[in-house]
Amino acid sequence: MIVSPSLLSADFGNLARDLEMINHSKAQMLHLDVMDGVFVPNISFGFPVIKYVQQLCKKPLDVHLMIVEPQKFINEVRDCGAEIMNVHFEACNHLDRVVQQIHDAGMKAGVTINPATPVCLLRDIVAQLDLVLLMSVNPGFGGQKFIPNTLNKVKELRALIAETGSKAVIEVDGGVNDVTGRQLAEAGADVLVAGNYVFKASDPLAAIETLVNL
Ligand code: DX5
Ligand code: ZN
Repeated sequence: MIVSPSLLSADFGNLARDLEMINHSKAQMLHLDVMDGVFVPNISFGFPVIKYVQQLCKKPLDVHLMIVEPQKFINEVRDCGAEIMNVHFEACNHLDRVVQQIHDAGMKAGVTINPATPVCLLRDIVAQLDLVLLMSVNPGFGGQKFIPNTLNKVKELRALIAETGSKAVIEVDGGVNDVTGRQLAEAGADVLVAGNYVFKASDPLAAIETLVNL
């Protein structure tokens, strides 16, 4: 399993220490949650913080934009060294264009859907995507409870990907732990995001390894 720990649950007073832990871990990516207080009812951190993270972190950056009009910030995300730029389906009026612009900027394109957005709405875009991010909580906060219907959505998305010949990987974000992680692995997920399960663990390296081994 590919694991992308979510920095949102890190200790921001000891960010360099937590990033050093990530560098020494088996995590294959680092997940960064940008929130604007409009698309979601919370504000997190922005590009100056991600630039600092990029200097210290050796893992590829998986940037999840929970903001309105994400197309305005494609160059900023690229300049932060992001490997993957995730935009919300619900935040883009012209999603096909945004995906093209992300690719033109040299990044992998990910599209995220909220728990109430059906997988079938991705039918005409999924072949162009490198990643689909399924939210398994309503976005905005770490530490929420996993929504079980996500397991059905993973299976449905796996079938849609096969049917359309898409190369997209399936990432799931929210309430992931060893139990829900195992269920997601069985359902067909490729990438697990985990915030609280990793950063609030007494042994974060072991928590990451548990998920990697699923
Ligand atoms: C929620 C964020 C998640 C969050 C996950 O809006 O997108 O990435 O950090 O946190 P946990 O794993 O604690 O649910
Ligand atoms: Zn996220």
